[in-house]
Amino acid sequence: MTLNDVSAVERVTAEAFYALDVATRPADWPKPERRPAHRTEPWKVRLRHLVNHDADGCWVAEDDDGEVVGAAAALRREGLWALSTYAVRPGLQARGVGRRLLDAALAYGPPDSPGIISSSHDPRAVRRYRLAGFDIHPAMLMWGTVRRSAIPALPDVREGSADDIELLDEIDRASRGHGHGVDHEVLVSQWPLRIYERGTSRAYAYLYPAGGPHLLAATDPDSASSVLWAALETAQPDKPVDFHNVTGEQSWALDVALAAGMEVHNRGFLALRAMPVPAPYIPSGHFL
Ligand SMILES: CC(C)(COP(=O)(O)OP(=O)(O)OC[C@H]1O[C@@H](n2cnc3c(N)ncnc32)[C@H](O)[C@@H]1OP(=O)(O)O)[C@@H](O)C(=O)NCCC(=O)NCCS
Repeated sequence: MTLNDVSAVERVTAEAFYALDVATRPADWPKPERRPAHRTEPWKVRLRHLVNHDADGCWVAEDDDGEVVGAAAALRREGLWALSTYAVRPGLQARGVGRRLLDAALAYGPPDSPGIISSSHDPRAVRRYRLAGFDIHPAMLMWGTVRRSAIPALPDVREGSADDIELLDEIDRASRGHGHGVDHEVLVSQWPLRIYERGTSRAYAYLYPAGGPHLLAATDPDSASSVLWAALETAQPDKPVDFHNVTGEQSWALDVALAAGMEVHNRGFLALRAMPVPAPYIPSGHFL
Protein backbone atom coordinates (compact mmCIF):
# COMPACT_ATOMS: atom_id res chain seq x y z
CA MET A 1 0.00 0.00 0.00
CA THR A 2 1.16 3.51 -0.77
CA LEU A 3 -0.34 6.87 0.16
CA ASN A 4 -1.90 6.92 -3.33
CA ASP A 5 -3.97 3.85 -2.45
CA VAL A 6 -5.56 5.32 0.68
CA SER A 7 -8.73 6.66 -0.99
CA ALA A 8 -9.38 3.38 -2.82
CA VAL A 9 -8.80 1.41 0.40
CA GLU A 10 -11.23 3.67 2.25
CA ARG A 11 -13.90 2.89 -0.36
CA VAL A 12 -13.28 -0.86 -0.31
CA THR A 13 -13.48 -1.03 3.49
CA ALA A 14 -16.61 1.16 3.61
CA GLU A 15 -18.33 -1.10 1.05
CA ALA A 16 -17.20 -4.33 2.72
CA PHE A 17 -18.46 -3.33 6.19
CA TYR A 18 -21.71 -1.94 4.78
CA ALA A 19 -22.33 -5.20 2.88
CA LEU A 20 -21.58 -7.21 6.03
CA ASP A 21 -24.01 -5.03 8.01
CA VAL A 22 -26.75 -5.37 5.39
CA ALA A 23 -26.33 -9.15 5.32
CA THR A 24 -26.14 -9.74 9.07
CA ARG A 25 -27.53 -6.89 11.17
CA PRO A 26 -30.34 -8.02 13.51
CA ALA A 27 -33.78 -6.80 12.35
CA ASP A 28 -34.44 -4.91 15.61
CA TRP A 29 -31.21 -2.85 15.37
CA PRO A 30 -31.00 0.54 13.58
CA LYS A 31 -30.72 0.24 9.79
CA PRO A 32 -27.16 -0.17 8.38
CA GLU A 33 -25.58 3.00 7.00
CA ARG A 34 -22.54 3.56 4.81
CA ARG A 35 -19.60 5.34 6.47
CA PRO A 36 -20.82 8.98 6.40
CA ALA A 37 -18.90 11.66 4.49
CA HIS A 38 -17.75 13.45 7.66
CA ARG A 39 -15.98 10.30 8.89
CA THR A 40 -14.17 9.64 5.60
CA GLU A 41 -11.32 12.12 5.93
CA PRO A 42 -10.46 11.27 9.58
CA TRP A 43 -10.42 7.60 8.53
CA LYS A 44 -7.96 8.41 5.72
CA VAL A 45 -5.78 10.43 8.12
CA ARG A 46 -5.50 7.34 10.34
CA LEU A 47 -4.57 5.09 7.43
CA ARG A 48 -2.02 7.59 6.04
CA HIS A 49 -0.45 7.61 9.51
CA LEU A 50 -0.05 3.82 9.30
CA VAL A 51 1.35 3.90 5.77
CA ASN A 52 3.89 6.46 7.00
CA HIS A 53 4.88 4.55 10.15
CA ASP A 54 4.24 0.91 9.17
CA ALA A 55 4.78 0.74 5.40
CA ASP A 56 5.75 -2.94 5.55
CA GLY A 57 2.54 -3.80 7.43
CA CYS A 58 0.18 -2.18 4.89
CA TRP A 59 -0.86 -4.14 1.81
CA VAL A 60 -3.38 -3.94 -1.03
CA ALA A 61 -4.69 -6.56 -3.44
CA GLU A 62 -5.28 -5.40 -7.02
CA ASP A 63 -7.28 -6.97 -9.84
CA ASP A 64 -5.90 -7.35 -13.38
CA ASP A 65 -6.81 -3.72 -14.16
CA GLY A 66 -4.83 -2.44 -11.18
CA GLU A 67 -7.99 -1.64 -9.17
CA VAL A 68 -7.69 -2.05 -5.41
CA VAL A 69 -9.98 -4.92 -4.34
CA GLY A 70 -8.73 -5.56 -0.82
CA ALA A 71 -6.41 -4.30 1.89
CA ALA A 72 -4.81 -5.13 5.21
CA ALA A 73 -2.96 -2.70 7.47
CA ALA A 74 -0.95 -3.84 10.49
CA LEU A 75 1.05 -1.82 13.00
CA ARG A 76 3.80 -2.62 15.49
CA ARG A 77 4.23 -0.72 18.77
CA GLU A 78 6.70 -1.66 21.51
CA GLY A 79 6.73 -5.29 20.37
CA LEU A 80 2.94 -5.60 19.92
CA TRP A 81 1.60 -6.46 16.45
CA ALA A 82 -1.95 -5.26 15.72
CA LEU A 83 -4.31 -5.42 12.73
CA SER A 84 -6.01 -2.11 12.04
CA THR A 85 -7.82 -2.61 8.74
CA TYR A 86 -8.78 -5.70 6.80
CA ALA A 87 -11.36 -6.00 4.00
CA VAL A 88 -11.99 -7.45 0.54
CA ARG A 89 -14.48 -5.96 -1.91
CA PRO A 90 -17.92 -7.61 -1.71
CA GLY A 91 -18.37 -10.04 -4.61
CA LEU A 92 -14.70 -11.01 -4.49
CA GLN A 93 -14.70 -12.38 -0.94
CA ALA A 94 -14.15 -16.04 -0.01
CA ARG A 95 -11.78 -16.63 -2.96
CA GLY A 96 -8.50 -16.52 -1.06
CA VAL A 97 -7.70 -12.81 -1.48
CA GLY A 98 -8.11 -12.20 2.26
CA ARG A 99 -5.78 -15.03 3.18
CA ARG A 100 -2.97 -13.61 1.05
CA LEU A 101 -3.48 -10.12 2.45
CA LEU A 102 -3.44 -11.34 6.04
CA ASP A 103 -0.33 -13.44 5.42
CA ALA A 104 1.45 -10.34 4.11
CA ALA A 105 0.36 -8.24 7.10
CA LEU A 106 1.35 -11.01 9.54
CA ALA A 107 4.85 -11.11 8.06
CA TYR A 108 5.29 -7.59 9.47
CA GLY A 109 6.74 -8.85 12.75
CA PRO A 110 7.91 -12.09 14.35
CA PRO A 111 5.30 -14.88 14.18
CA ASP A 112 5.49 -15.52 17.93
CA SER A 113 5.24 -11.89 19.08
CA PRO A 114 2.17 -10.67 20.99
CA GLY A 115 -0.64 -9.83 18.57
CA ILE A 116 -4.12 -8.32 18.78
CA ILE A 117 -7.06 -8.02 16.39
CA SER A 118 -10.52 -6.56 16.93
CA SER A 119 -12.47 -9.04 14.82
CA SER A 120 -15.79 -8.33 13.18
CA HIS A 121 -18.49 -10.99 13.51
CA ASP A 122 -17.85 -12.06 9.87
CA PRO A 123 -17.25 -15.85 10.04
CA ARG A 124 -14.72 -15.50 7.20
CA ALA A 125 -12.64 -13.14 9.33
CA VAL A 126 -12.82 -15.33 12.44
CA ARG A 127 -11.78 -18.34 10.38
CA ARG A 128 -8.74 -16.50 9.03
CA TYR A 129 -7.65 -15.32 12.49
CA ARG A 130 -7.97 -18.71 14.16
CA LEU A 131 -6.18 -20.44 11.28
CA ALA A 132 -3.40 -17.85 11.73
CA GLY A 133 -3.00 -19.03 15.34
CA PHE A 134 -4.95 -16.40 17.30
CA ASP A 135 -7.09 -17.19 20.37
CA ILE A 136 -10.65 -16.02 19.80
CA HIS A 137 -12.49 -14.24 22.65
CA PRO A 138 -16.20 -13.42 22.11
CA ALA A 139 -16.94 -9.75 22.77
CA MET A 140 -19.90 -7.62 23.87
CA LEU A 141 -21.41 -4.47 22.48
CA MET A 142 -23.20 -2.08 24.84
CA TRP A 143 -25.98 0.10 23.46
CA GLY A 144 -28.52 2.56 24.79
CA THR A 145 -29.24 5.93 26.34
CA VAL A 146 -27.30 6.64 29.50
CA ARG A 147 -29.34 6.86 32.72
CA ARG A 148 -28.17 10.30 33.89
CA SER A 149 -29.15 9.72 37.52
CA ALA A 150 -26.70 6.80 37.72
CA ILE A 151 -23.63 8.90 36.80
CA PRO A 152 -21.45 9.33 39.91
CA ALA A 153 -19.50 12.45 40.89
CA LEU A 154 -16.15 12.35 39.08
CA PRO A 155 -13.84 14.81 40.87
CA ASP A 156 -10.62 13.10 39.72
CA VAL A 157 -11.41 13.17 35.99
CA ARG A 158 -10.06 15.94 33.76
CA GLU A 159 -9.76 16.69 30.07
CA GLY A 160 -6.53 15.45 28.48
CA SER A 161 -4.33 16.83 25.70
CA ALA A 162 -1.18 16.09 23.70
CA ASP A 163 0.82 17.11 26.81
CA ASP A 164 -0.36 13.88 28.46
CA ILE A 165 1.05 11.42 25.89
CA GLU A 166 3.85 10.22 28.16
CA LEU A 167 1.31 9.47 30.90
CA LEU A 168 -0.98 7.71 28.40
CA ASP A 169 1.85 5.39 27.35
CA GLU A 170 2.56 4.58 31.00
CA ILE A 171 -1.10 3.65 31.51
CA ASP A 172 -0.99 1.55 28.31
CA ARG A 173 2.01 -0.38 29.61
CA ALA A 174 0.30 -1.04 32.95
CA SER A 175 -2.90 -2.16 31.22
CA ARG A 176 -1.73 -4.09 28.16
CA GLY A 177 2.06 -4.20 28.37
CA HIS A 178 2.74 -1.94 25.35
CA GLY A 179 2.38 1.81 24.74
CA HIS A 180 0.48 3.21 21.74
CA GLY A 181 3.42 5.57 21.03
CA VAL A 182 2.96 7.68 17.88
CA ASP A 183 -0.68 6.61 17.57
CA HIS A 184 -1.54 8.86 20.52
CA GLU A 185 -0.62 11.83 18.32
CA VAL A 186 -3.42 10.94 15.89
CA LEU A 187 -5.83 9.79 18.59
CA VAL A 188 -5.49 13.02 20.55
CA SER A 189 -6.03 15.07 17.39
CA GLN A 190 -9.24 13.21 16.52
CA TRP A 191 -11.05 12.28 19.74
CA PRO A 192 -11.80 14.07 23.02
CA LEU A 193 -9.70 12.65 25.88
CA ARG A 194 -10.54 12.14 29.56
CA ILE A 195 -7.95 11.27 32.20
CA TYR A 196 -8.47 9.96 35.73
CA GLU A 197 -5.68 10.35 38.29
CA ARG A 198 -5.78 9.60 42.00
CA GLY A 199 -2.40 8.77 43.52
CA THR A 200 -0.93 5.91 41.53
CA SER A 201 -4.35 4.91 40.11
CA ARG A 202 -4.75 6.18 36.57
CA ALA A 203 -6.94 5.73 33.53
CA TYR A 204 -7.72 7.39 30.23
CA ALA A 205 -10.41 7.17 27.59
CA TYR A 206 -10.68 8.63 24.09
CA LEU A 207 -14.32 9.41 23.37
CA TYR A 208 -16.58 8.97 20.37
CA PRO A 209 -18.10 12.30 19.31
CA ALA A 210 -21.52 11.06 20.49
CA GLY A 211 -20.05 9.81 23.81
CA GLY A 212 -18.76 6.47 25.03
CA PRO A 213 -15.21 5.11 24.90
CA HIS A 214 -13.33 4.57 21.61
CA LEU A 215 -10.23 3.38 23.52
CA LEU A 216 -9.80 2.99 27.27
CA ALA A 217 -6.88 1.81 29.41
CA ALA A 218 -6.37 1.86 33.17
CA THR A 219 -4.12 0.71 35.97
CA ASP A 220 -7.03 -0.87 37.90
CA PRO A 221 -10.78 -1.57 37.53
CA ASP A 222 -11.97 1.31 39.79
CA SER A 223 -10.04 3.89 37.75
CA ALA A 224 -11.34 2.26 34.55
CA SER A 225 -14.93 2.54 35.81
CA SER A 226 -14.49 6.23 36.65
CA VAL A 227 -13.17 7.13 33.24
CA LEU A 228 -15.85 4.99 31.57
CA TRP A 229 -18.51 6.96 33.44
CA ALA A 230 -16.79 10.15 32.26
CA ALA A 231 -17.01 8.86 28.69
CA LEU A 232 -20.71 8.04 29.07
CA GLU A 233 -21.41 11.38 30.76
CA THR A 234 -20.70 13.19 27.47
CA ALA A 235 -23.59 11.39 25.72
CA GLN A 236 -26.66 13.47 25.01
CA PRO A 237 -29.52 12.60 27.39
CA ASP A 238 -31.90 11.13 24.80
CA LYS A 239 -29.40 9.86 22.15
CA PRO A 240 -28.29 6.22 22.38
CA VAL A 241 -24.54 5.54 22.37
CA ASP A 242 -22.62 2.32 21.97
CA PHE A 243 -19.21 0.85 22.57
CA HIS A 244 -17.81 -2.58 21.80
CA ASN A 245 -14.74 -4.87 22.02
CA VAL A 246 -15.69 -5.71 25.63
CA THR A 247 -14.67 -9.27 26.52
CA GLY A 248 -15.72 -11.25 29.61
CA GLU A 249 -12.57 -10.11 31.44
CA GLN A 250 -13.94 -6.55 31.58
CA SER A 251 -16.68 -7.12 34.18
CA TRP A 252 -16.11 -3.60 35.49
CA ALA A 253 -17.24 -2.25 32.08
CA LEU A 254 -20.25 -4.54 32.00
CA ASP A 255 -21.25 -3.36 35.48
CA VAL A 256 -20.98 0.32 34.49
CA ALA A 257 -23.02 -0.28 31.32
CA LEU A 258 -25.72 -2.11 33.27
CA ALA A 259 -25.83 0.62 35.95
CA ALA A 260 -26.16 3.14 33.10
CA GLY A 261 -29.19 1.20 31.84
CA MET A 262 -27.56 0.10 28.58
CA GLU A 263 -28.36 -3.10 26.65
CA VAL A 264 -25.69 -5.81 26.39
CA HIS A 265 -25.28 -7.64 23.08
CA ASN A 266 -22.81 -10.24 21.86
CA ARG A 267 -20.94 -8.94 18.77
CA GLY A 268 -17.50 -9.59 17.31
CA PHE A 269 -14.38 -11.04 18.90
CA LEU A 270 -11.03 -10.04 20.30
CA ALA A 271 -8.33 -12.20 18.71
CA LEU A 272 -5.07 -12.48 20.65
CA ARG A 273 -1.71 -14.17 20.12
CA ALA A 274 0.99 -14.74 22.75
CA MET A 275 -0.57 -12.42 25.29
CA PRO A 276 -3.21 -12.56 28.03
CA VAL A 277 -6.45 -10.59 27.62
CA PRO A 278 -5.46 -7.05 28.66
CA ALA A 279 -7.51 -5.64 31.54
CA PRO A 280 -8.75 -3.16 32.40
CA TYR A 281 -8.85 -2.21 28.75
CA ILE A 282 -11.23 -1.49 25.86
CA PRO A 283 -9.29 -1.55 22.58
CA SER A 284 -9.67 0.87 19.68
CA GLY A 285 -10.58 -0.84 16.42
CA HIS A 286 -8.04 1.36 14.58
CA PHE A 287 -5.05 1.39 16.90
CA LEU A 288 -6.07 -1.44 19.29
C1 LIG B 1 -12.79 -10.96 6.30
C2 LIG B 1 -12.34 -10.77 4.84
C3 LIG B 1 -11.35 -9.61 4.76
C4 LIG B 1 -11.65 -12.05 4.39
O1 LIG B 1 -11.31 -11.93 3.03
P1 LIG B 1 -11.71 -13.11 2.01
O2 LIG B 1 -11.10 -12.81 0.72
O3 LIG B 1 -13.17 -13.29 2.08
O4 LIG B 1 -10.97 -14.33 2.77
P2 LIG B 1 -10.53 -15.75 2.23
O5 LIG B 1 -11.31 -16.12 1.00
O6 LIG B 1 -9.05 -15.80 2.11
O7 LIG B 1 -10.91 -16.65 3.46
C5 LIG B 1 -12.23 -16.80 3.88
C6 LIG B 1 -12.37 -18.16 4.52
O8 LIG B 1 -13.71 -18.30 5.04
C7 LIG B 1 -14.37 -19.39 4.41
N1 LIG B 1 -15.76 -19.00 4.27
C8 LIG B 1 -16.40 -18.47 3.21
N2 LIG B 1 -17.69 -18.21 3.52
C9 LIG B 1 -17.86 -18.59 4.79
C10 LIG B 1 -18.95 -18.57 5.69
N3 LIG B 1 -20.14 -18.12 5.32
N4 LIG B 1 -18.76 -19.05 6.93
C11 LIG B 1 -17.55 -19.51 7.34
N5 LIG B 1 -16.46 -19.54 6.53
C12 LIG B 1 -16.63 -19.08 5.28
C13 LIG B 1 -13.63 -19.60 3.11
O9 LIG B 1 -13.78 -20.92 2.64
C14 LIG B 1 -12.19 -19.30 3.52
O10 LIG B 1 -11.63 -20.34 4.27
P3 LIG B 1 -10.53 -21.35 3.60
O11 LIG B 1 -9.47 -20.48 3.00
O12 LIG B 1 -10.05 -22.16 4.72
O13 LIG B 1 -11.31 -22.10 2.56
C15 LIG B 1 -13.55 -10.46 3.92
O14 LIG B 1 -14.43 -11.56 3.91
C16 LIG B 1 -14.30 -9.19 4.29
O15 LIG B 1 -13.99 -8.13 3.76
N6 LIG B 1 -15.32 -9.24 5.19
C17 LIG B 1 -16.10 -8.07 5.55
C18 LIG B 1 -15.28 -7.05 6.35
C19 LIG B 1 -14.71 -7.67 7.60
O16 LIG B 1 -15.43 -8.24 8.42
N7 LIG B 1 -13.39 -7.54 7.77
C20 LIG B 1 -12.68 -8.08 8.91
C21 LIG B 1 -12.37 -6.97 9.83
S1 LIG B 1 -11.89 -7.54 11.43
